[in-house]
Amino acid sequence: MSIVKLENIYKTYPLGNQKVEAVKNASFDIKKGEFAAISGPSGSGKSTLLNMIGLIDLPTSGKIIIDGIDIYDGFDLGFTHLESNRLNNYSEKKDKKIKTTIPSSIDKRITALRRSHIGFIFQTFNLIPVLNVYENIEFPLLLKSKNSKIDCIVDTFTKKQKEEWVQFLMEKTGLSGWKNHKPAELSGGQRQRVAIARALVTKAPVILADEPTANLDSTNSAQILSLMKDLNNDTELQTTFIFSTHDSRIVEMCNHVIHIFDGKISNDEYKTGSGIYKTENR
Ligand SMILES: Nc1ncnc2c1ncn2[C@@H]1O[C@H](COP(=O)(O)OP(=O)(O)OP(=O)(O)O)[C@@H](O)[C@H]1O
Ligand SMILES: [Mg+2]
Repeated sequence: MSIVKLENIYKTYPLGNQKVEAVKNASFDIKKGEFAAISGPSGSGKSTLLNMIGLIDLPTSGKIIIDGIDIYDGFDLGFTHLESNRLNNYSEKKDKKIKTTIPSSIDKRITALRRSHIGFIFQTFNLIPVLNVYENIEFPLLLKSKNSKIDCIVDTFTKKQKEEWVQFLMEKTGLSGWKNHKPAELSGGQRQRVAIARALVTKAPVILADEPTANLDSTNSAQILSLMKDLNNDTELQTTFIFSTHDSRIVEMCNHVIHIFDGKISNDEYKTGSGIYKTENR
Protein backbone atom coordinates (compact mmCIF):
# COMPACT_ATOMS: atom_id res chain seq x y z
CA MET A 1 0.00 0.00 0.00
CA SER A 2 1.23 3.43 -0.95
CA ILE A 3 1.81 5.74 2.02
CA VAL A 4 3.31 8.71 0.13
CA LYS A 5 2.61 9.43 -3.51
CA LEU A 6 3.78 12.42 -5.53
CA GLU A 7 2.34 13.19 -8.95
CA ASN A 8 3.93 15.78 -11.23
CA ILE A 9 5.22 17.96 -8.41
CA TYR A 10 6.83 21.28 -9.30
CA LYS A 11 8.34 23.78 -6.89
CA THR A 12 9.47 27.18 -8.06
CA TYR A 13 11.01 29.73 -5.70
CA PRO A 14 10.97 33.40 -6.57
CA LEU A 15 14.42 34.98 -6.43
CA GLY A 16 14.26 38.71 -7.18
CA ASN A 17 12.91 38.95 -10.71
CA GLN A 18 13.97 35.40 -11.46
CA LYS A 19 12.69 31.97 -10.58
CA VAL A 20 14.51 28.97 -9.20
CA GLU A 21 12.94 25.73 -10.36
CA ALA A 22 13.94 23.59 -7.37
CA VAL A 23 11.76 20.57 -8.28
CA LYS A 24 10.59 19.75 -11.78
CA ASN A 25 7.86 17.23 -12.46
CA ALA A 26 8.63 14.78 -9.66
CA SER A 27 6.49 11.66 -9.40
CA PHE A 28 7.13 8.68 -7.16
CA ASP A 29 5.48 6.28 -4.83
CA ILE A 30 6.60 5.13 -1.39
CA LYS A 31 4.98 2.06 0.12
CA LYS A 32 4.24 1.45 3.79
CA GLY A 33 7.26 0.15 5.69
CA GLU A 34 9.89 1.31 3.19
CA PHE A 35 13.32 2.57 4.24
CA ALA A 36 13.72 5.08 1.44
CA ALA A 37 16.27 7.71 0.46
CA ILE A 38 16.06 10.79 -1.70
CA SER A 39 19.63 11.12 -2.84
CA GLY A 40 21.46 13.72 -4.89
CA PRO A 41 24.14 16.39 -4.83
CA SER A 42 23.89 19.64 -2.86
CA GLY A 43 21.25 21.98 -4.28
CA SER A 44 19.49 19.21 -6.24
CA GLY A 45 16.15 19.70 -4.42
CA LYS A 46 16.19 17.00 -1.69
CA SER A 47 15.14 19.22 1.24
CA THR A 48 12.57 20.97 -0.95
CA LEU A 49 10.99 17.59 -1.74
CA LEU A 50 11.11 16.46 1.89
CA ASN A 51 9.53 19.71 3.10
CA MET A 52 6.67 19.27 0.63
CA ILE A 53 6.13 15.64 1.71
CA GLY A 54 6.25 16.82 5.34
CA LEU A 55 3.58 19.46 4.55
CA ILE A 56 5.76 22.31 5.74
CA ASP A 57 6.06 23.78 2.26
CA LEU A 58 3.57 24.04 -0.61
CA PRO A 59 4.22 22.70 -4.09
CA THR A 60 3.74 25.12 -6.97
CA SER A 61 1.68 22.47 -8.71
CA GLY A 62 1.02 18.74 -8.64
CA LYS A 63 -0.53 16.23 -6.29
CA ILE A 64 0.64 14.93 -2.92
CA ILE A 65 -1.26 11.95 -1.55
CA ILE A 66 -0.53 10.78 1.98
CA ASP A 67 -2.13 7.58 3.24
CA GLY A 68 -4.75 7.88 0.49
CA ILE A 69 -5.57 11.52 1.30
CA ASP A 70 -5.15 13.92 -1.61
CA ILE A 71 -3.78 16.88 0.35
CA TYR A 72 -4.66 19.72 -2.01
CA ASP A 73 -7.67 17.90 -3.37
CA GLY A 74 -7.68 19.28 -6.90
CA PHE A 75 -7.16 22.82 -5.59
CA ASP A 76 -5.23 25.04 -8.01
CA LEU A 77 -1.95 25.81 -6.27
CA GLY A 78 -0.83 28.15 -9.03
CA PHE A 79 -1.50 31.31 -7.02
CA THR A 80 1.05 30.28 -4.44
CA HIS A 81 3.72 30.54 -7.09
CA LEU A 82 5.17 33.70 -5.62
CA GLU A 83 4.50 33.02 -1.97
CA SER A 84 6.50 29.93 -1.21
CA ASN A 85 7.12 28.95 2.41
CA ARG A 86 3.83 30.60 3.32
CA LEU A 87 2.66 27.79 5.57
CA ASN A 88 3.18 28.61 9.24
CA ASN A 89 4.22 32.13 8.39
CA TYR A 90 1.07 33.76 9.64
CA SER A 91 2.47 37.27 9.71
CA GLU A 92 2.55 37.12 5.92
CA LYS A 93 -1.21 36.79 5.88
CA LYS A 94 -1.37 40.38 7.03
CA ASP A 95 0.62 41.48 4.02
CA LYS A 96 -2.02 43.06 1.75
CA LYS A 97 -0.04 42.08 -1.33
CA ILE A 98 -1.06 38.49 -0.75
CA LYS A 99 -4.64 38.36 -1.92
CA THR A 100 -5.34 34.69 -1.53
CA THR A 101 -4.42 31.91 0.81
CA ILE A 102 -5.25 28.25 0.58
CA PRO A 103 -8.73 27.52 1.90
CA SER A 104 -8.89 27.05 5.66
CA SER A 105 -10.33 23.55 5.23
CA ILE A 106 -7.10 22.50 3.50
CA ASP A 107 -5.01 24.40 6.03
CA LYS A 108 -6.74 22.51 8.87
CA ARG A 109 -6.28 19.20 7.08
CA ILE A 110 -2.57 19.92 6.68
CA THR A 111 -2.16 20.82 10.36
CA ALA A 112 -3.97 17.66 11.47
CA LEU A 113 -2.08 15.40 9.05
CA ARG A 114 1.27 16.85 10.03
CA ARG A 115 0.61 15.72 13.59
CA SER A 116 -1.08 12.37 12.91
CA HIS A 117 0.95 11.14 9.94
CA ILE A 118 4.33 12.86 9.84
CA GLY A 119 7.31 12.88 12.16
CA PHE A 120 10.02 15.29 10.99
CA ILE A 121 13.64 14.99 12.08
CA PHE A 122 15.31 18.27 11.18
CA GLN A 123 18.97 18.46 10.29
CA THR A 124 19.59 20.82 13.21
CA PHE A 125 17.28 18.77 15.51
CA ASN A 126 15.11 21.80 16.51
CA LEU A 127 14.76 20.74 20.14
CA ILE A 128 13.25 23.14 22.67
CA PRO A 129 16.18 24.33 24.80
CA VAL A 130 14.25 24.97 28.03
CA LEU A 131 12.64 21.51 28.05
CA ASN A 132 14.41 18.38 29.24
CA VAL A 133 14.67 15.13 27.26
CA TYR A 134 11.37 13.71 28.54
CA GLU A 135 9.51 16.98 27.94
CA ASN A 136 10.93 17.43 24.44
CA ILE A 137 9.78 13.93 23.45
CA GLU A 138 6.38 14.40 25.10
CA PHE A 139 5.77 17.83 23.52
CA PRO A 140 3.76 16.77 20.38
CA LEU A 141 1.38 14.83 22.64
CA LEU A 142 0.38 18.07 24.34
CA LEU A 143 -0.77 19.71 21.09
CA LYS A 144 -4.45 19.19 20.45
CA SER A 145 -5.83 18.24 17.05
CA LYS A 146 -8.47 20.62 15.63
CA ASN A 147 -9.61 18.16 12.97
CA SER A 148 -11.66 15.37 14.44
CA LYS A 149 -11.91 13.61 11.07
CA ILE A 150 -8.21 12.79 11.06
CA ASP A 151 -7.39 10.38 13.84
CA CYS A 152 -4.22 10.52 15.80
CA ILE A 153 -3.86 7.22 17.63
CA VAL A 154 -2.22 8.70 20.71
CA ASP A 155 -5.21 10.98 21.37
CA THR A 156 -7.05 7.92 22.68
CA PHE A 157 -4.26 7.21 25.19
CA THR A 158 -4.78 7.87 28.88
CA LYS A 159 -2.27 10.07 30.71
CA LYS A 160 -0.61 6.95 32.10
CA GLN A 161 -0.38 5.29 28.67
CA LYS A 162 1.22 8.45 27.29
CA GLU A 163 3.79 8.45 30.10
CA GLU A 164 4.59 4.79 29.44
CA TRP A 165 4.92 5.41 25.70
CA VAL A 166 7.37 8.31 26.21
CA GLN A 167 9.28 6.09 28.66
CA PHE A 168 9.34 3.25 26.10
CA LEU A 169 10.70 5.57 23.39
CA MET A 170 13.38 6.87 25.75
CA GLU A 171 14.45 3.27 26.37
CA LYS A 172 14.36 2.39 22.66
CA THR A 173 16.55 5.38 21.85
CA GLY A 174 18.92 4.76 24.78
CA LEU A 175 17.99 7.97 26.59
CA SER A 176 16.57 6.66 29.86
CA GLY A 177 19.59 7.86 31.81
CA TRP A 178 19.26 11.38 30.40
CA LYS A 179 15.59 12.03 31.17
CA ASN A 180 16.18 15.32 33.01
CA HIS A 181 18.94 16.68 30.80
CA LYS A 182 18.34 19.76 28.67
CA PRO A 183 19.49 19.71 24.99
CA ALA A 184 22.57 21.84 25.82
CA GLU A 185 23.68 19.09 28.24
CA LEU A 186 23.62 16.38 25.54
CA SER A 187 25.98 15.23 22.80
CA GLY A 188 25.07 15.59 19.11
CA GLY A 189 24.15 11.90 18.88
CA GLN A 190 21.96 12.12 21.99
CA ARG A 191 20.19 15.21 20.61
CA GLN A 192 19.57 13.36 17.36
CA ARG A 193 18.06 10.47 19.36
CA VAL A 194 15.74 12.88 21.20
CA ALA A 195 14.64 14.25 17.80
CA ILE A 196 13.95 10.68 16.60
CA ALA A 197 11.94 9.79 19.71
CA ARG A 198 9.97 13.05 19.39
CA ALA A 199 9.24 12.28 15.73
CA LEU A 200 7.92 8.84 16.73
CA VAL A 201 5.83 9.94 19.71
CA THR A 202 2.55 10.50 17.82
CA LYS A 203 2.92 7.04 16.19
CA ALA A 204 3.04 8.77 12.82
CA PRO A 205 3.34 6.26 9.97
CA VAL A 206 5.91 8.37 8.10
CA ILE A 207 9.18 9.66 9.52
CA LEU A 208 11.11 12.16 7.42
CA ALA A 209 14.74 12.91 8.21
CA ASP A 210 16.69 15.64 6.45
CA GLU A 211 20.37 14.63 6.25
CA PRO A 212 20.16 12.65 9.52
CA THR A 213 23.89 12.00 9.69
CA ALA A 214 25.20 15.36 8.49
CA ASN A 215 25.93 16.66 11.98
CA LEU A 216 27.21 13.42 13.49
CA ASP A 217 30.58 11.67 13.60
CA SER A 218 30.86 8.23 12.03
CA THR A 219 30.28 6.28 15.29
CA ASN A 220 27.15 8.24 16.14
CA SER A 221 25.94 8.03 12.51
CA ALA A 222 26.23 4.24 12.53
CA GLN A 223 24.34 4.01 15.86
CA ILE A 224 21.57 6.34 14.70
CA LEU A 225 21.14 4.47 11.42
CA SER A 226 20.94 1.10 13.10
CA LEU A 227 18.41 2.51 15.58
CA MET A 228 16.23 3.78 12.73
CA LYS A 229 16.54 0.46 10.89
CA ASP A 230 15.46 -1.36 14.09
CA LEU A 231 12.43 0.92 14.39
CA ASN A 232 11.66 0.34 10.71
CA ASN A 233 11.84 -3.45 11.27
CA ASP A 234 9.58 -3.23 14.33
CA THR A 235 6.39 -4.89 13.13
CA GLU A 236 4.29 -3.19 15.79
CA LEU A 237 5.38 0.33 14.76
CA GLN A 238 5.54 -0.37 10.96
CA THR A 239 7.16 3.00 10.45
CA THR A 240 8.14 4.20 6.98
CA PHE A 241 11.37 6.22 6.87
CA ILE A 242 12.25 8.70 4.12
CA PHE A 243 15.66 10.38 4.20
CA SER A 244 17.20 13.16 2.23
CA THR A 245 20.87 12.37 1.99
CA HIS A 246 24.08 12.24 0.06
CA ASP A 247 25.59 9.83 2.58
CA SER A 248 26.40 6.57 0.78
CA ARG A 249 26.07 4.60 4.06
CA ILE A 250 22.38 5.55 4.24
CA VAL A 251 21.80 4.88 0.55
CA GLU A 252 23.29 1.38 0.98
CA MET A 253 20.86 0.60 3.82
CA CYS A 254 17.76 1.74 1.93
CA ASN A 255 15.55 -0.58 -0.08
CA HIS A 256 14.25 2.26 -2.25
CA VAL A 257 16.45 5.06 -3.58
CA ILE A 258 15.10 8.03 -5.50
CA HIS A 259 17.88 9.92 -7.24
CA ILE A 260 17.40 13.61 -7.90
CA PHE A 261 19.62 15.77 -10.06
CA ASP A 262 19.03 19.45 -10.77
CA GLY A 263 15.42 19.20 -9.53
CA LYS A 264 14.52 16.19 -11.67
CA ILE A 265 14.11 12.58 -10.59
CA SER A 266 16.80 10.88 -12.62
CA ASN A 267 16.36 7.35 -11.33
CA ASP A 268 13.96 5.49 -9.06
CA GLU A 269 15.27 2.14 -7.91
CA TYR A 270 14.32 -0.65 -5.56
CA LYS A 271 16.92 -2.97 -4.13
CA THR A 272 16.25 -6.63 -3.72
CA GLY A 273 18.38 -9.04 -1.69
CA SER A 274 20.36 -10.02 -4.76
CA GLY A 275 20.98 -6.63 -6.27
CA ILE A 276 19.28 -3.62 -7.74
CA TYR A 277 16.08 -3.59 -9.67
CA LYS A 278 15.62 -0.33 -11.53
CA THR A 279 12.00 0.71 -11.75
CA GLU A 280 12.48 3.60 -14.08
CA ASN A 281 15.13 5.53 -15.89
CA ARG A 282 14.24 9.07 -16.87
N1 LIG B 1 13.59 29.59 0.02
C1 LIG B 1 14.26 29.51 -1.13
N2 LIG B 1 14.29 30.55 -2.01
C2 LIG B 1 14.93 30.47 -3.18
N3 LIG B 1 15.60 29.38 -3.61
C3 LIG B 1 15.61 28.32 -2.78
C4 LIG B 1 14.95 28.32 -1.49
N4 LIG B 1 15.16 27.12 -0.91
C5 LIG B 1 15.89 26.39 -1.77
N5 LIG B 1 16.17 27.10 -2.89
C6 LIG B 1 16.93 26.65 -4.06
O1 LIG B 1 16.34 25.44 -4.51
C7 LIG B 1 17.34 24.51 -4.92
C8 LIG B 1 17.18 23.22 -4.14
O2 LIG B 1 17.48 23.46 -2.78
P1 LIG B 1 17.41 22.32 -1.66
O3 LIG B 1 17.66 22.97 -0.35
O4 LIG B 1 16.17 21.55 -1.82
O5 LIG B 1 18.67 21.40 -2.08
P2 LIG B 1 19.27 20.13 -1.34
O6 LIG B 1 19.35 19.03 -2.34
O7 LIG B 1 18.55 19.86 -0.08
O8 LIG B 1 20.76 20.61 -1.01
P3 LIG B 1 21.72 20.26 0.24
O9 LIG B 1 22.25 18.87 -0.02
O10 LIG B 1 22.80 21.29 0.14
O11 LIG B 1 20.92 20.35 1.49
C9 LIG B 1 18.67 25.21 -4.73
O12 LIG B 1 19.06 25.76 -5.95
C10 LIG B 1 18.37 26.28 -3.72
O13 LIG B 1 19.22 27.39 -3.87
MG1 LIG C 1 19.06 19.93 1.96
